[in-house]
Amino acid sequence: MTATNFRLELEQAVRSRHSRAHPFTERWVNGELTRNQLGRWAIEQWHFIANFSQYMAGVYARCPEREVRDYLLENMWEEELAATRHSEYLVRFAAACGIDRETFMATGPLPTTEALADWCRTRAFYDHWLVAAAALNIGLESQVVGIMERVTPPLTEKYGFTSADIGYFEVHWKTDRMHSERAYELVSKHANTIELRDACLIRVTRATEMRWLFTDGIYRTFVHGAQAETPTIARHHERTALD
Ligand SMILES: [Fe+2]
Repeated sequence: MTATNFRLELEQAVRSRHSRAHPFTERWVNGELTRNQLGRWAIEQWHFIANFSQYMAGVYARCPEREVRDYLLENMWEEELAATRHSEYLVRFAAACGIDRETFMATGPLPTTEALADWCRTRAFYDHWLVAAAALNIGLESQVVGIMERVTPPLTEKYGFTSADIGYFEVHWKTDRMHSERAYELVSKHANTIELRDACLIRVTRATEMRWLFTDGIYRTFVHGAQAETPTIARHHERTALD
């Protein structure tokens, strides 16, 4: 497998189960979700990405290649400190959906969301550093541009949000295209054995399945599920009990 073929295989692995084509995304794009459902998505997304920098830091700590470390550090900086912390944009979006900050912070994740976050943490700290970077930055993060370019325009055109409400989407539409391109370059360059390439492909494929299941959880619970109208109180109590 050449480096070029390997990159094409990585791209194919992401395309084969891309969450931009999930039924939840289709509902979103068609303007069929309620503001409450969009706010519930924001809470789950927050539980998924709020610690994403910590996962990248797990890879950073074990990575011997300075150019990959620099990429991760820059990505972490943009996520947390460059301007508005990205997770904070989700709190603002949820507020525009009618979910206040206190409720947002008091609501625990769905099990499917927790499974994705735990998967990220495990990959970040236990996989080979390059395989972990492929899983996180290609398998998961590279999907963001493809999702954002579909879900962002309807937020203003069909749901009536203002540009101040949708900073989360606008910032990712722009920055993650750059992050994604660089991740493909670096993983292709440093995956210099067949074993490493195979391991990267396996993890990238699994990452797309994990993200799909995360989206399934949101779709089943808040669009199709019986909890759709009363999740906040029920899950708040559940979380309190667990804490
Ligand atoms: Fe981000």
